[in-house]
Amino acid sequence: MPIIKWDDSLSVQVKELDEQHKKFIESVNEFHDALLHVESDQLHDFKKKALESMREYAVFHFIAEEQYMKEIGYPDLDKHKKIHDQFISKLREYEVKFSSGKLIFNSEIMKTLKNWLHDHLLTEDRKYSAFALKKQRQ
Ligand SMILES: [Fe+2]
Ligand SMILES: [Fe+2]
Repeated sequence: MPIIKWDDSLSVQVKELDEQHKKFIESVNEFHDALLHVESDQLHDFKKKALESMREYAVFHFIAEEQYMKEIGYPDLDKHKKIHDQFISKLREYEVKFSSGKLIFNSEIMKTLKNWLHDHLLTEDRKYSAFALKKQRQ
């Protein structure tokens, strides 16, 4: 069962960025599914790798998105970038804590990640999308 679903309300009206968001959602879902199914002796390694690849994908996506916001002259780019940076820091913090055994990576954390992604798409990402549409109409 997917923990987060794509629907058109999440679209930012930019094909490339929508595709990246879909992939992001997919990776969160796959990770959530696998948490329930991976053998317990493989679980630690699996979670470690999943966290790492989630961060790598987030970095990749944020760079593309920030570039796009720059191209359209989005006035709140710095604010948006700060939110991205904070998310990456959070993921790094999870990775460090998880590696040293100070964090149990469970469905609670999964929910936190999922909620962040969903809220970010619906609030912050939507703002640059609205700005771009308004600009096109002028
Ligand atoms: Fe964003
Ligand atoms: Fe985004």
